[in-house]
Amino acid sequence: MKVLMVCLGNICRSPLAHGILEHKAPSNWTIDSAGTSGWHEGERPDTRSIITAKGRGIAIDQQRSRPFVVDDFKRFDIIFAMDSSNYSNILRLAPDEESALKVRLIMNEVYPKENRQVPDPYTGGQNGFEEVYDMLELALDEFLNSNLNG
Ligand code: 4NP
Repeated sequence: MKVLMVCLGNICRSPLAHGILEHKAPSNWTIDSAGTSGWHEGERPDTRSIITAKGRGIAIDQQRSRPFVVDDFKRFDIIFAMDSSNYSNILRLAPDEESALKVRLIMNEVYPKENRQVPDPYTGGQNGFEEVYDMLELALDEFLNSNLNG
């Protein structure tokens, strides 16, 4: 399974989702993350994301931000968006129906069809990052459960 996590900057939310799934998924899966913007290209995850992940035993400081590219539709089976804005920005780039069907809102794994958002924690404090981590872990545990047992 090849899974891509996407947010706006690829420095706060998607690096956490990337790190969590990489930590929990079978080792033959491919996990990566990207941003719908290239604003932080080449940068490490936000320090607050690094600290949050480290506190849960996961290292994400080796990750580097990169923009989402159309070729990602070919390279990945599932593309998880963190919020509706990311979702529509990814869908807009989909070259065909098969590509569009790969895109999902990540919290719908736990709350199907509710279209809940993973809030952007960038302008807030450390606590927002801890909350994002908890949400993403819940979603990814559910995703793994249905993909490994179902
Ligand atoms: P992310 O958070 O999309 O979760 O990585 C953000 C990071 C940077 C900015 C916005 C959101 N920014 O405006 O630079």
